[in-house]
This record gives sequence, structure tokens and C-alpha cells, in this order.
Amino acid sequence: MKHLLSIADLSREEIGAILDTAVSMHDVQKRDVKKLPTLRGRTIINFFFEDSTRTRSSFEIAGKWMSADTINLTGKGTSVSKGESLRDTVLTVDAMGVDMMIIRHPASGAPKQIADWVRCSIVNAGDGTHEHPTQALLDAYTLRKEFGDLEGRHVAIVGDLTHSRVLRSNLLCLRTLGARVTLVAPPTLMPSGITAWAERDGFATSYDLDEVLPHVDAVMMLRVQRERMSGGYFPTAKEYAVTYGLSPRRLDLLPDHAVICHPGPMNRGLEISADAADAVSSRILDQVSAGVAVRMSILYHLLAGEDAQ
Ligand code: CP
Repeated sequence: MKHLLSIADLSREEIGAILDTAVSMHDVQKRDVKKLPTLRGRTIINFFFEDSTRTRSSFEIAGKWMSADTINLTGKGTSVSKGESLRDTVLTVDAMGVDMMIIRHPASGAPKQIADWVRCSIVNAGDGTHEHPTQALLDAYTLRKEFGDLEGRHVAIVGDLTHSRVLRSNLLCLRTLGARVTLVAPPTLMPSGITAWAERDGFATSYDLDEVLPHVDAVMMLRVQRERMSGGYFPTAKEYAVTYGLSPRRLDLLPDHAVICHPGPMNRGLEISADAADAVSSRILDQVSAGVAVRMSILYHLLAGEDAQ
């Protein structure tokens, strides 16, 4: 495996191998000295054309803990702001002899296009509304830690589905691992063509969050992405919170064993109440913690493992 561009490129066995390696990587996080020699002499560029807290910092931590040299670049502060094209920019960085570029970009498909241009490995750290494969892997890791095998487990993914790359990667990942998935959103935030898509990929859809919650093992709340909305998708924030937010009242609808996930960043009071975000059953900070371990595992598999090219 040279690149990680989409969950669709991974088999169930490959996902399992990444999650298994992440278990050992998670142990490193608990040590006093967080350092492995695995990627000594390797150079990794975090190239983020969109803002990020979790993904960028966890990839940087992952690379540093594995002894790689890591460098952060953003659109601002590089010659992109002088009008250099994306192709010239990434060919320039590639020509320096780097081993990997981790790319976040507002355009869907940008990491795939870059992978076709350059020699080094490319990891998709989120591209437009297309995919966020490392988020889906860390979510699967978090759920597997909770439940073991995900075969037959029921996960509801709720909220702004239209604009969510996390949805697309999680749907692929969870279905590949055998989980049942129900998507819940207002009609205005259901992706177009959802009926045919649901039939083809074997998931359910609902507009009624109250009806779905009592039957889930996990509920994954998605951020309302106001920065990607050009029109009005719901009348008011208050109405959205009442009809689709994980409110204190809705916490009581969840089975006792069910857990709450959110990829972050959260809009507290909109898609998720403070009571839900901070509940005992919330796994939101566990997702963040898993992010470092899973990204270490991805670096290992792409740059050092037996399957690295
Ligand atoms: N979940 C996620 O991608 O968060 P960041 O935008 O902070 O990286």
C-alpha cells in the first residue's frame, strides 16, 4: 500500500491490520518516553490547505513519536498565496525528497490528483465533501475498543450528511466491517440520490431521531458545517437543535450500553448538547486519543510495514 486516499481502497483485512497495529501504537501513548525508532530518516510533510486542530496535530505527534522528521505547511505562508499552482507546489515539495505528504484540501479529489503527480506517498487528511479516511479508521478503532467485533452493531450517523466527508468514509468503513448503519438528517441535509445509494450499499435512512436512538449501539453526531452552506438548510439554529440535536432529553432514549461519538470540532448547543458531549457515555476524547495511535499505524503501514512500497 503506497497511498491512503479512500476507505474504498481498503479490504476488511487491511482495515483490521491497521486497527490491530494501532492497538500496539496506543501503548506508546501511555509511556513516559514516547519514542519509537521506526521512521528514523523519513520525512513527512503535513500540507493543510484547510484549517485543522485534531488531524494536523495528531499526524505531527504520530510522526514525531515514530522519529520521522515532520514539517507543517499551509496554504498561507507558502508560495500558493503568490499564485503558484497546486501541481507546481506539490512537485516542488516532492522534488526535495520527502517520503510522504499528508494532504487536507477543500477540493474533493485533490489528494488523488496529487498522488498521480508525485513520487512520494499521499495520505488524504480530508478532501472537500468527499472523504476523511483516517477519521473513519479512528472511529472504527474507538468502537472496536468498546464492542469488539463490529459485525451486526448498529451505528446511527446523524446531522449534516450533505456536507460531510466523515459520513462518506465512515459509511464505507462501518459497512466493510459488517456494522448496520442508519443515517438520520432533515430532508434538506440528506444527500441527493440517497434512496438508490442506501439500496446499493445496504444502509437505512430516517428523518426521525427519536425513533432511531433506542435501537443503536453508538450514535455519531456530525457537525453542522455552516462554512460549506450557501443557502438556508434549516429555519433556525434553535429549531435544528430541537429536532436533530442530541439534547439531554434524547440521552434518555439511548440504551444504557450505547456510546456517543463526534469527530469534532463540535457546535455545542447545536448538533450536540453539553450534557451529551460530557456524558459518561461520550467517547469524543477517546476518539481524539485514538487518532494518534491510528495515524501512527497508518504511517507504519505506508512507510515501514511489510506492505509498504
Ligand atoms: N475531525 C477533524 O478532522 O478535526 P480537525 O478539523 O480539527 O482536524
